[in-house]
Amino acid sequence: MLLGTGASLAAMAVSGTAQAAAKPMAGEGDAAPQASTPDQIRRMQWWHAAKFGMFIHFGLYSVHERHEWAMENEAIPIGEYQALAPRFNPKPGFAREWAKLAKAAGMKYMVMTTKHHEGFCNFDTKLTDYCATKQGPKRDLVREYVEAARAEGMHVGFYYSLMDWHHPDGARCATDEAARKRFVAYTHGLIRELLTNYGKIDVLWYDVAWPLDAQGWESERMNKMVFELQPDIIVNNRNKLTGDFSTPEQKIVAETNGRAWESCMTLNDSWGYQRADDDWKSSKTIVRNLIKCASGGGNYLLNIGPKPDGSVPEESVQVLNEVGKWMDTNGATIYQSDICQPHRSSYASFTRTGNTLFMHVHFWPGRDVAISGLKTKVKSAHFLKGGQSVKFTQDPYRVHLVELPMEAPDSPVTTLVLECESEPIQDTDFVRREKPRAGV
Ligand code: GLC
Repeated sequence: MLLGTGASLAAMAVSGTAQAAAKPMAGEGDAAPQASTPDQIRRMQWWHAAKFGMFIHFGLYSVHERHEWAMENEAIPIGEYQALAPRFNPKPGFAREWAKLAKAAGMKYMVMTTKHHEGFCNFDTKLTDYCATKQGPKRDLVREYVEAARAEGMHVGFYYSLMDWHHPDGARCATDEAARKRFVAYTHGLIRELLTNYGKIDVLWYDVAWPLDAQGWESERMNKMVFELQPDIIVNNRNKLTGDFSTPEQKIVAETNGRAWESCMTLNDSWGYQRADDDWKSSKTIVRNLIKCASGGGNYLLNIGPKPDGSVPEESVQVLNEVGKWMDTNGATIYQSDICQPHRSSYASFTRTGNTLFMHVHFWPGRDVAISGLKTKVKSAHFLKGGQSVKFTQDPYRVHLVELPMEAPDSPVTTLVLECESEPIQDTDFVRREKPRAGV
């Protein structure tokens, strides 16, 4: 699975706890990093606490049922692709199902594709007829989504693809200045509509800036408009500016120096619905990924690719409900977690709140478990689920938790709570060097 590399773990180790106050690094944006402003810290607060969000890829590609890149990857002629529109008619209440599922999974925000690379707008716009209110459903799918998300208490995010495979200027804007001007006006205009017509929007999630750079997109002016329209919003880094957070995709890599980051990931191998993609991740993998993100101070944005009628594939529903059940008991170890340095184990991962270390055992060995090189004194240990206390011994090299049941007490991951005397830090190099060796 896509877990962090050694390098990212080292980065986590040095990044400390004061994530909001530290200096951001350049992510995929081109601009130089700038220190977080008090305003940025204020806008990002809910998002840091949220930790877990739902990404939704929904568009005409959902009708084609072969991944959201089908239009380009199968070189589908424009006329043939447009013929998908009349067949796009999600069932009433589809977005309520998404929002309820997100809530059940323990997610706190949602980010839906308002327009993906295919160019079809899921919202009402005066700027093109290629939109859901004039073709296909003849309804404003973005409005339905926004209302559904709010009804379940979710923060609301908009994904917006700058790259556009449908608009006549979408490619030639790179070489034709008049086309660029038209296309930038169109793009800024659509974003203006999105951020004017739906009330308070919490996240603007730009994607793929091809074929222009920040100057070509007039990204500074774009973000200025965005913040004028939505003073509380946060934006990502994919319009070639640094934005508020980085967006590692299909991998978990912590940013350094307190820069905010969010790993986005699919549940199978496709963002948009692909009927035959059966490469589903297990709830165990998802929980482990969520732990990994939280321990590195990041968020996890997990995708669903609804079917043409808006219903969520059964496999996704099942996994998300299992994750939600785990979050019902274990959620506090994620939402309220600080960056956590300990990470070395062959069967567990760790999160932390202050001096409390959570050992999340995903491969339950039964009988006993141990942590190597913990440099703080453990005062007490207990199971998170059920609260039963756990016996342990500690020497300079090992915390040894013993007399554990053979069966894992929780699923898919069992959490042990270790109250420590100070911030838990792990040093396995010390163990390798100093643990007494035998005589020859
Ligand atoms: C990529 C893909 C896209 C997907 C996105 C999610 O940029 O082009 O299909 O929407 O990643 O992060």
